[in-house]
Amino acid sequence: MSASARTALLGLVLACALASPSGSQAGEPPLFALTAADTFLASPLHHLPSEDAIDSLGTRLKLVQLDAAQRARLSDFVHEEESRCGGYFSFSSRAEALDFLARDLSLQAILAPPTLAYTLDNQATVAPWLAQVSEPVIRATIAHLSSYQNRYYQSTHGLNAALWIRDTWLALGNGRSDVHVELFNCSNCSTQPSVILTIDGAELPEEIVVLGGHLDSIRSGAYGNPEQFAPGADDDASGIATLTEVIRIALAQGWKPRRTVKFMGYAAEEVGLRGSAAIAASHSSAGAQVVGVLQLDMTNYRSGVPHHVQFLTDFVNGPLRGFSYQLFDSYLAPLGLVRKDLACGYACSDHASWTSHGFPAVMASEAGDTDDDFFPYLHSANDTLAYVGGTADSSIPFAQFALAFLGELAKTSAPPNDVFINGFESDP
Ligand code: BES
Ligand code: ZN
Repeated sequence: MSASARTALLGLVLACALASPSGSQAGEPPLFALTAADTFLASPLHHLPSEDAIDSLGTRLKLVQLDAAQRARLSDFVHEEESRCGGYFSFSSRAEALDFLARDLSLQAILAPPTLAYTLDNQATVAPWLAQVSEPVIRATIAHLSSYQNRYYQSTHGLNAALWIRDTWLALGNGRSDVHVELFNCSNCSTQPSVILTIDGAELPEEIVVLGGHLDSIRSGAYGNPEQFAPGADDDASGIATLTEVIRIALAQGWKPRRTVKFMGYAAEEVGLRGSAAIAASHSSAGAQVVGVLQLDMTNYRSGVPHHVQFLTDFVNGPLRGFSYQLFDSYLAPLGLVRKDLACGYACSDHASWTSHGFPAVMASEAGDTDDDFFPYLHSANDTLAYVGGTADSSIPFAQFALAFLGELAKTSAPPNDVFINGFESDP
């Protein structure tokens, strides 16, 4: 293990030790968690009664009833002992969890061939966008979002942060009739809504491209405490700030996509991917044609290494990941940017919600210098902008990648054939 990886691991241990599970509040009754069996069995919770389960990919899972303190111990164990993230889906009842598993479409989602032609032919739109990405703008959004005491799903701060994102995105829509912003409530997301900005597709409105990140934050061990200090600047104010910059640039000159585009800030990711699971379920039951999902979770930490963007390899769609590499190699590599791969683990972020509902999803995230080096202040009071030197530089490549993903998947609507210049009809 490298020195920086050791420092990172120490940071995580400290971060997780800062707030002890005994600080947990009785904020919510025990819930049912679906988590990876190997994680659970290696953890100090292995003695709890659990049921074996399996998803369509053959991932060995455990269905287990956990209270808030036990969930904290499970997460802390994975972070400390396995120096990686270990996720779970969260359910209010056993029946709900079993129903989720019975409908699991992960295998289909990772293997699904593209439902649209992957082409790189929209340089005219994408190239000028890339030059417009602004570090101070991204930084200002991270600074604002990390100025709330927390963005915890059960707190008024977490609600206010979501409403601020709604208002900010609405303002970027500039009153356009084809741009809509809505709040999406979910039955187990407490008072925190997800936020969705939609740009109606001008030519293929039924086909939907999704770009998202989670808007909530959490402090390790402080589950249930609505006054916990959890700035979440990197996790995941950086992802929301990156998306906000993409929205700003795409809408600045009145861009109209051929396909419908939805930008999403998900509620309650940190407590079991709840907002995204509800949204993916609703798209599934509506029979929506979601042609590609990009998840941005943690974009603003680098440890002085050659890599800028990390693509996650598990629980993502293969062809869309391949297309993401093509996008990166054509648009970002010429700017001197470098990518790498890493597996994330079961249910580590919101892309997993889309995958389990059968939709093609990919996820990009910041890269450490080794595979077990990740942001040392994850889920701690030190997840601040100051920790990364007060800059949003590391987020710039993510905004550029997301713009390329947006422009080449949603495409630019051709202007109407009849173009009037100075009152005279010109030749198309
Ligand atoms: N942002 C993290 C996941 C992550 C960490 C991605 C490091 C890439 C690099 C995410 O918000 C998180 O904390 N996930 C939890 C699982 C969740 C379902 C409780 C995790 O992985 O422990
Ligand atoms: Zn996150």
